[in-house]
This record gives sequence, structure tokens and C-alpha cells, in this order.
Amino acid sequence: MSVSRFLFHSLSKILATKSLYLTKSLNYKSSQSLPPNYDYVRFSTLGLCYEEIINKGVKGNIAEVGVYKGVFAKRMNKLFSDRKLYLFDTFEGFDGKDVEVEKNSGYSKGDQDFSDTSVQMVMSNMPYPEKCIVKKGFFPDTASDVEDSFCFVSLDADLYEPILQGLIFFYPRLEKGGYIFIHDFNNDEYKGARPAVLKYCNENGINYVPIPDSGGTVIITK
Ligand SMILES: C[S@@+](CC[C@H](N)C(=O)[O-])C[C@H]1O[C@@H](n2cnc3c(N)ncnc32)[C@H](O)[C@@H]1O
Repeated sequence: MSVSRFLFHSLSKILATKSLYLTKSLNYKSSQSLPPNYDYVRFSTLGLCYEEIINKGVKGNIAEVGVYKGVFAKRMNKLFSDRKLYLFDTFEGFDGKDVEVEKNSGYSKGDQDFSDTSVQMVMSNMPYPEKCIVKKGFFPDTASDVEDSFCFVSLDADLYEPILQGLIFFYPRLEKGGYIFIHDFNNDEYKGARPAVLKYCNENGINYVPIPDSGGTVIITK
């Protein structure tokens, strides 16, 4: 065993006792280095899915429902530099209608404030702003005029109703070989994501893969 391999294994064992994990498995071949981000697994998995989409020649555009300040959307825009990126958000935080469903069902309080953002702030951080189509307002109403198909979609709206509506809108428009990431499936703070995914997937015979990122994402593919 080489010295570097020995050190890697020894350090991995010590860190694992503290629930800290070293992994080389995500050093996928890619020219893009990852931005410093607390959710390494989520961002790396996006990179791996991007490579599959490109290698298979999957057509279609990309979208995120729940953009907030655009941290994940920025990465999507950087990777998929030649695809249109639809950005769906109120840019003013949760909508009262969704919060009511959330509270009545006991999923979450829906009281996190996501209003400290703006379209201008998000767009100023995008590497390819000319590819972005901003859909400001209540989703799914803002999707009514969208006729594209999609190869990658991120559903990160936290609450039951917009997540379910996101699946209803995007799954039929997902290209074969495309992916939908649904954040918060395994997240105790937002308990609405899981029943939304289960309802749509059970009713439509769809399977998914949960990943151990910090938000408890599940991934649907077609
Ligand atoms: C957790 S944040 C998104 C985080 C973001 N993806 C990131 O990378 O940091 C959730 C966002 O979903 C948006 N949202 C929730 N329900 C919505 C709806 N029905 N229509 C539009 N936006 C919604 C909120 O305004 C909020 O900005």
C-alpha cells in the first residue's frame, strides 16, 4: 500500500468515529472544481448527473422551483451553460396558500423567511444570465406559458403543495435520461416534501433514489 493510500485509510477511520467521512468516490472526472459549499454530496451528485446527461445527449432545458438567493441555480447555470434555465420563485418567500396547507396538515410551520432576496441579486450572480428565464410569482401559475421539455429540474420549494405541483408539471415534461432532484424528502424540518413525493410516485408508478446530502434529497429519473 502506498504512503498516501495508507494515510487516506488511516485518517478515514479516525474521522469516521466522529461521523466525518472522507470520500474519493466523488472525484469524478470534471474540469469544473466545486465551489466551497456545505452540501458537497448534493453539488457533486448534480455534477455526476450533468455528465450523464451530456454523455447520453439528453435534450431539454433546466429549471429550479425555489431559487431563493440562487446558490444551487448558479451551479446549474454554470454546468449547463448552453441550456435555458427557468428560475421559479416568488422572490418574496412562501405564499400564504401553501403555508395554510402546510399548517393544516402538520407538516411544518412554514415560518422561515425567504424574502431577503431579489431577482436582481440572483441574476447578478449568474455566470450565464442570458440563458436565464425568470418566472417571478406563485408557482405553478408562473409555469402556465412554459412549453419546453427538461433534462434537469431542482424542486426546492420546501412545502408540500409546490413540490407536488412541481412533480405534476415537470415529470411529464422530463426527457428520457433526465433527472428531478427533490430536496427535503428526508428532512424533519419540512415534513411536507416526503408525502408530496410519495403521492406522485405511488400514483404514477415512479421510483426514486434517496441520497445522503444535508437536505435529504431524492432523485427521480426517467
Ligand atoms: C429553501 S429556499 C430555496 C433554496 C435554493 N434552492 C438555494 O439553492 O439556496 C425555498 C424557496 O422556495 C420558494 N417558494 C416556495 N413555494 C413557492 C411557490 N409556490 N411559488 C414560488 N416560489 C416558492 C420560496 O420563496 C423560497 O425562496
